[in-house]
Amino acid sequence: MNPSLYNPLVLLIVIFLAPAYPGAKIIGGHEVKPHSRPYMASLQLHNGSRVYAAYCGGALITPKWVLTAAHCEISIASGQFLRAVLGGHSHSKYEKSEQRLRIIKQIPITKYNKRTKKDDIMLLQLKTAAKINQYVNVLNLPKGGITDMKSGTTCTVAGWGKTKIGNYSDTLQEVEVEVVDRRTCNSKDYYNHRPEITQDMICAGDRKGRADSCQGDSGGPLICDKMYTGIVSFGRGCANAKKPGVYTLLTKKYIDWIRSIIGLPLKDAEELY
Ligand code: ARG
Repeated sequence: MNPSLYNPLVLLIVIFLAPAYPGAKIIGGHEVKPHSRPYMASLQLHNGSRVYAAYCGGALITPKWVLTAAHCEISIASGQFLRAVLGGHSHSKYEKSEQRLRIIKQIPITKYNKRTKKDDIMLLQLKTAAKINQYVNVLNLPKGGITDMKSGTTCTVAGWGKTKIGNYSDTLQEVEVEVVDRRTCNSKDYYNHRPEITQDMICAGDRKGRADSCQGDSGGPLICDKMYTGIVSFGRGCANAKKPGVYTLLTKKYIDWIRSIIGLPLKDAEELY
């Protein structure tokens, strides 16, 4: 496993210049109906010369906060800045529905541990509040946290990450994946405890290795039974049947942490919009 694969900097492919590939898919997925996932955020780095590179996904959870993965934390050189683009579908096209908001703070729950891959969760504070409309909206967090999802539950995941042919997608893609129970996921043929798939993680993939999230999809939401369940975290390769995607599970511990940072009980937060 090459740890540099998990370094978001490695993912800084200038997708603006990448041509839209007709029929390109997340891995085994398809293009979403434009704006059908109004909470999706595309995280982008401005490199100092007006070129933006998308490096991760995220979900808008209140007008001022985006939730993503801790390994999406980026160090910013002077002259560079980060933005979250909301309400967008294609990276190469200018869309009137887009809101491009500055990210003023990256708050990982703790320093991300590349070896254990634990606690891969981070909040991003936006400089100005997103305007909620038909193109931009929040994704509600599971209030009490999620304990677990039954093996075989169908979930969906979306992102602008790598597709089957290995390039980044210009348009937002989505795919269905199935929950793989933790015991199987930790078994010898699967991750074999390297790293340990903990109670705060959930595995989801495809038995035949046809569907998965991939590089560049990190930070995006995993939705199971219509609930925000997880965050794209890691995998070994992509769409490898015995190495399903691993997602940070939105357990109570994480929901409590989010609450402590954003400073409002989520219920009250909801009433604000
Ligand atoms: N770590 C990757 C990223 O930064 C996400 C990998 C997800 N991999 C997978 N096989 N599901 O974008």
